[in-house]
Amino acid sequence: MKAGEQAERTRARCQTLARFSEDCEGTRRTFLSPPMRGCYQEITEWLRPLGVFARLDAAGNLRGLYPGETGTASRLLIGSHVDTVPNAGAFDGILGVALAVALLEGLEGRRLPFAIEVVGFSEEEGVRFGIPFIGSRALVGRLDDDLLNHKDSNGISVRAAIEDFGINVNEISQARVGEDVLGYLEFHIEQGPVLENLGLPLGIVDTIAGQSRMEFIFAGHANHAGTTPMHLRCDALAGAAEWILAVERTARAQPGLVATVGAIDARPGVTNAIAGEVRVSLDVRHGADGVRHMTVRELIRQAEEIANFRELRVEYKTLLDQRAVAMDSSFADQIAVAMTETGCEPHRMVSGAGHDAMILAEKVPAAMIFLRTPGGVSHHPSETVLVGDIERAIECGLRLLSQLAESQQVLKRTCRA
Ligand code: GLV
Ligand code: MN
Ligand code: MN
Repeated sequence: MKAGEQAERTRARCQTLARFSEDCEGTRRTFLSPPMRGCYQEITEWLRPLGVFARLDAAGNLRGLYPGETGTASRLLIGSHVDTVPNAGAFDGILGVALAVALLEGLEGRRLPFAIEVVGFSEEEGVRFGIPFIGSRALVGRLDDDLLNHKDSNGISVRAAIEDFGINVNEISQARVGEDVLGYLEFHIEQGPVLENLGLPLGIVDTIAGQSRMEFIFAGHANHAGTTPMHLRCDALAGAAEWILAVERTARAQPGLVATVGAIDARPGVTNAIAGEVRVSLDVRHGADGVRHMTVRELIRQAEEIANFRELRVEYKTLLDQRAVAMDSSFADQIAVAMTETGCEPHRMVSGAGHDAMILAEKVPAAMIFLRTPGGVSHHPSETVLVGDIERAIECGLRLLSQLAESQQVLKRTCRA
């Protein structure tokens, strides 16, 4: 198959998977939800002609091994996540899985001195449980009892969700990567405007920004909207609103910082009642963990100050404190060589979005290749990717595999466990 056709097919595969959704309109595919099954089946069918028989591990990750030359025990992982946000685009995550399959197809049966394991991570977005990276945490041994017992908004725990899907959660330790894993490679759309602005199709991630995710609960008194005078109210929603604007102001004042309140739940949530309780999410990111932590402390202080002044109560809990993570520099250098030979400038960049690579990096050399995102739009149905850029990504990936086959040095474990 010609390179252009292969890129077209990769793009079309992502669009096909976008139809596996929990919602009638738009794509939403959360951790081990029913449409995940159809999605896994489809990927399994892509892999079968390559002699790769995919299976689910105990965290619901889809894994398929393309063997190396006879007698080779070591493996390179290539993948990304299969879950999505609500109202998602067709490429965030799944493009990395489809590209892993495209690389195996591009090998045309050639065996390398190492095996390649394609991984479709079951959960990266944190939508269902508020906590992301459930799939990749299992590979580094961080899917612990606390997380397994954590419940979604319907009271279903991660453990129950895994069992309901027909998977034996007690085998979770078998999902871990061992000494035989040489590294992890992830292709992903950039999800921002940088590459497009530079006129570049591909980029190399050198650092993934750290992130904090929290929930704040403002509590006041629900009461009648018509009979309660303005000066006698304890309006939880007005307090939360004041704090949300403080979040925006604080983030704008700090270069490189992004802070977002993306979800709000006001109760009782009717037109004619003052809100008695409001839950809001907070997402804070920065390349420097010190700046992120200082910002979180400041936002807690502001929430308490606003609550005090308005005679509200405020509680908060941390759902995620993920440090910023550097990608493996020698792996990135190898990618730079392959990218240059593909005719693309090897631009190095920070990722503001979180990725499974930041979890895998705890145990194995990890690297990421970004593809330009037209319009910089992601987490939205209009998210897209250019076929020409996919073609370059495939060429770059195949060159990289050949390079690694010639010198496995870069994949030597740097042992960070
Ligand atoms: C994942 O998409 C993230 O929120 O960074
Ligand atoms: Mn995403
Ligand atoms: Mn993603």
